[in-house]
Order: sequence, then structure tokens, then C-alpha cells
Amino acid sequence: MPQIFKPAANHVARLSLVLGLASPLILGYAVAAISRSPVNTKVQVALNQPVPFSHQHHARELGIDCRYCHTSVEKSAEAGFPPTETCMSCHSQIWTNSPLLEPIRKSYETGTPIKWNKVNKVPEFVYFNHSIHIARGVNCNTCHGPVQHMQMTYKGNSFQMQWCLQCHRAPERFLYQDSKHPEMSPRNQVFNLYWKYQAGEQLSNFEQKLIDGEPMGSDDPEHLKTGRELLAKYGVKVQQLADCSVCHH
Ligand code: HEC
Ligand code: HEC
Ligand code: HEC
Ligand code: HEC
Ligand code: HEC
Repeated sequence: MPQIFKPAANHVARLSLVLGLASPLILGYAVAAISRSPVNTKVQVALNQPVPFSHQHHARELGIDCRYCHTSVEKSAEAGFPPTETCMSCHSQIWTNSPLLEPIRKSYETGTPIKWNKVNKVPEFVYFNHSIHIARGVNCNTCHGPVQHMQMTYKGNSFQMQWCLQCHRAPERFLYQDSKHPEMSPRNQVFNLYWKYQAGEQLSNFEQKLIDGEPMGSDDPEHLKTGRELLAKYGVKVQQLADCSVCHH
């Protein structure tokens, strides 16, 4: 296995931990079936939150950039949740009497952060990093579904291993760029799509599918050609992207 990410010893130790899980029991059909049931993966089921925050209001209708609230998404592994101060930058002036915002005002007064329920999660033994995906132009909606349409946030995809692998094995099916703005950096492509959508500009079929959070990836020959060019341009080592060590260090 090519050792492209971390020193070998570390890899082997942690990977064997992971492989230790691959006992006949875990691999047994019954367990696999349970782990794939919607109850466990919670796809498309909105979680209760301390405040009924709506992405449709804030991202779609008001057009607030994702990065205003998820400030670390381009720079680090985690996207993170906004602190109460971010909400109060507006809600100290607008909707100041809304009973729905009472927990926010209280949190601001007491300095106790709001505890958002986490919708998306991968297990501890899986390594995930937001910034590398954004740097390659992978759109938030590819993984999170139609966030702009969500009143209450739900999980758009299962995040099971096979789901990650269908892209890691053939990323050219998923990568794209705005044909009118090929000069734009991949990370700007991600956010430009939302801006265009919000402004009511004409979207390509692929872009519209991203916004709608439909099962994505395209086998259109033109799309695949562009996808391969982008992979070459970004220097992605496609042959190694599905190696166990990429996600299990
Ligand atoms: C850029 C300004 C802005 C920021 C930042 C902002 N909001 Fe809002 N929010 C609004 C506006 C404007 C509305 C009214 C939207 C409407 O009803 O059309 C609103 C409405 C709401 C409502 C509905 C209130 C009601 O009574 O119907 C909730 C709940 C809410 N926001 C929560 C939050 C939370 C939580 C945060 C921080 C994570 C936040 N908002 C950050 C501008 C903002
Ligand atoms: C005004 C602030 C604000 C903006 C703008 C915003 N978000 Fe959020 N986001 C939140 C808050 C607050 C939560 C936690 C509550 C919830 O899950 O709805 C959240 C949760 C999420 C989650 C679920 C996190 C988890 O696993 O629990 C995703 C995914 C997400 N946002 C994506 C986006 C995307 C994509 C955009 C841009 C299109 C965006 N957000 C714009 C405030 C914001
Ligand atoms: C390649 C898939 C992928 C893309 C692209 C992606 N995310 Fe995520 N996101 C995930 C996964 C997986 C998790 C769960 C991570 C964990 O459990 O550590 C997550 C978690 C989150 C969370 C919860 C807090 C956190 O940091 O764990 C937020 C908020 C979020 N994503 C927002 C975004 C936004 C905004 C974008 C686009 C700018 C985005 N994501 C792009 C896969 C993705
Ligand atoms: C739509 C495509 C797509 C999806 C879905 C996707 N990835 Fe990736 N992933 C990529 C691309 C492209 C890269 C960048 C490879 C490079 O530039 O070397 C990458 C890189 C990574 C890396 C390497 C990060 C680093 O620091 O080197 C990890 C780890 C990773 N992905 C984990 C995941 C996990 C876990 C999931 C599922 C929850 C996932 N990915 C889903 C496309 C995807
Ligand atoms: C692109 C990222 C990625 C790659 C590459 C990857 N995995 Fe995984 N793996 C995951 C994710 C995500 C999960 C968690 C699945 C879940 O929560 O259901 C997982 C879970 C597992 C599990 C736990 C049992 C299970 O099925 O949930 C084992 C064992 C495992 N992986 C082994 C491997 C082996 C062996 C390889 C190499 C052939 C590999 N993985 C490659 C992302 C990856």
C-alpha cells in the first residue's frame, strides 16, 4: 500500500485496529442490514434543535454565505457551528422579541453556548477533512443534500463507506466547473453556485441537480472529460484515493 499520508507505523497500528472490527460478526449480513437501516443512518430525518434554525430562510432567502456561519470549513477538517454572537449580529436588531429566539438571547446573556444536535457524523476511526474537499471544488450539497431547501436540517446522505467510495473511485463523475468561469478557483466555484442560484441565474443541468440534492455524478462524456482534466490540473492521485489508508490512518 503506498504510504502517502503519514508514517507507516502509525498507519499499520490504526488500520489493524479498524480491521480488528472486521470480524465475521460485523461483516455478517444481519449487522450490515441493521447498520444500513434508515433508523440508524437517519437520512432525511430532521433533528430537534434548541432553536428552529432554518437554512432556507438564512442561506436561500437572505443569501448569507455558508462561511459567515461555518467559518472554518475551507481551512480545517471541521466546518464548525456558529457562536451565539454570529446570530446576535442580526438578532440584536431584528426579530428581537421572537419567542423562538429566547434561547439565543439567554445564551448571549449567560455566555453558555447553544448545544446544537449534530446531524452528520462519521465514526472515530474514519478520518474526514472538509478543507481538502472544498479545495477540490466538491460542493457542500454533494455530501449534505439540498441545504438551501431545508427548514430544519437533516442528513442528506448515509456517509457509509460505500457512499464515500463511489466518489473516491471515480471522482471525475462528480467534479465540475462553471463553463463560463473556468478561471475561478475550485473553492470559489463551490460558493459561486449558491450565489447564482440565489440571484436567479440560469443553471446547467448538473448545477440544478446539485441545488436539488439529487443523487449526483454524471456519466455524460463531456462531463467526464472535464472531470478528468480537473483531476489532472489539481494533481489528484486518483489510483490511490480509494486506499484504506486515506480514510483509516
Ligand atoms: C444576516 C442576518 C441574520 C443572521 C446572522 C441570523 N439571522 Fe436569523 N433571521 C434573520 C432574518 C432577517 C429573519 C426573518 C426571516 C423571515 O421570516 O423572513 C430571521 C429569522 C430567524 C428565526 C425565525 C424567528 C421567528 O420568530 O420566526 C430564527 C429562529 C432565527 N432567525 C435564528 C437564527 C440563528 C439561530 C442564527 C445564528 C445561527 C441566526 N438566526 C442568524 C436574519 C439573520
Ligand atoms: C446564519 C448562519 C448559517 C448559515 C448562513 C449557514 N448555516 Fe449551516 N448551520 C447553522 C446552524 C446554527 C446549524 C446547526 C443547527 C442545524 O443543524 O440546523 C447549521 C447546521 C448545518 C449543517 C448540519 C451540521 C451537522 O452535522 O449537525 C450543515 C450540513 C450545514 N449547516 C450546511 C450549510 C451550508 C451548505 C450553508 C450554505 C449554503 C450553510 N450551512 C449556511 C448556521 C448557518
Ligand atoms: C465530501 C463530503 C462533504 C462536503 C463536500 C462537505 N461536507 Fe460537511 N460534513 C461531511 C461529513 C462526513 C461530516 C461529519 C464529520 C464528522 O463526523 O467528523 C460533515 C459535517 C459538517 C458539519 C457539522 C460540524 C462539523 O464540522 O463536523 C457542518 C456544519 C458541515 N459539515 C458543513 C459543510 C459546509 C458548509 C460545506 C460546504 C462549504 C460542507 N460541509 C461540505 C461531509 C462533507
Ligand atoms: C464527490 C466526491 C467525494 C466524496 C463524496 C468524498 N470525497 Fe473524500 N476526497 C475527494 C477528493 C477529490 C479528494 C482530494 C484528493 C486529493 O486532492 O488528493 C478527497 C480527499 C479525501 C481525503 C484525504 C484528505 C487529506 O488530508 O489528504 C479523505 C480522508 C477523504 N477524502 C475522506 C472522505 C470520506 C470519509 C468521505 C465520505 C464521508 C468522502 N471523503 C467523500 C472526493 C470525495
Ligand atoms: C473514502 C473513505 C474510505 C475508504 C477509502 C475506506 N473506508 Fe472503510 N469506512 C469509511 C467510512 C465512512 C466508514 C463508516 C461507515 C459507517 O459508519 O457505516 C468505514 C467503515 C469501515 C469499517 C467498519 C465496518 C463497516 O463496514 O462499517 C471497516 C472494517 C473498514 N471501513 C475497512 C476498510 C478497508 C479494509 C478499506 C480499504 C479496502 C477501507 N475501509 C477504505 C470510509 C472509507
